[in-house]
Amino acid sequence: MGVLDNVELSNLNKKAERNLEKLAYDEPVLAARYEALKKRVTSRGKEFQNLTQWLEADTAWLDAPASIRHHLNNKHGLLEHSVNVAEALLTLRDTMAPDSGITDESSTIVGLLHDLGKAGVEGKPQYLEKEQYVAEPEKENKTGYTAKYPYSYNNDLIYLSVPIRSLYLILPRLTLTEEEVQAIAYHDGQYVDDNRSVATKEEKLTLLLQYADNWSGFIKETNK
Ligand SMILES: [Fe+2]
Ligand SMILES: [Fe+2]
Repeated sequence: MGVLDNVELSNLNKKAERNLEKLAYDEPVLAARYEALKKRVTSRGKEFQNLTQWLEADTAWLDAPASIRHHLNNKHGLLEHSVNVAEALLTLRDTMAPDSGITDESSTIVGLLHDLGKAGVEGKPQYLEKEQYVAEPEKENKTGYTAKYPYSYNNDLIYLSVPIRSLYLILPRLTLTEEEVQAIAYHDGQYVDDNRSVATKEEKLTLLLQYADNWSGFIKETNK
């Protein structure tokens, strides 16, 4: 990221504010939960604010779905999933590991940003809205997923796994600890063959993030 002058910064700020206002109009509860989480990042507050402001202004972060065929494949789905995971992770930390030294800040950062890569990059979202999409609820299958999906994958992106793209987007703007990098990099756990190398070497934060992610994606967001 180049050094932004004051005019560029204030334009970015205004754009982020406008997009946050749209989110608050569409999804007031989600917007309030997101703002409450952001307040938990304090010691790296300035860096975190720079990162989130850029994401809110210039990427698909606030509007992207969480997937094409699975959980929360709707507008703001990625943000809703990310907020769900951050809140679940904080609850797990409070109940199972209150003395672990894992901070609110770390929990919030990895919970909120683990799937950030799904936003794609500036100007190239990972998921493209299909222009011709018309909902056909009568064709919805038994699992509750729509038979026709409203989004398609953007093949114009350079291939990176989601966790690696998350780190690619985060690290130029926000410093992460090694534990946070491990948690984000390996958050899919042993569902992904590439993650074999971390088996039995997971830090506590990684295990909490994996469980919070699974609980949100497989239970909470599928109404099981
Ligand atoms: Fe993920
Ligand atoms: Fe996730």
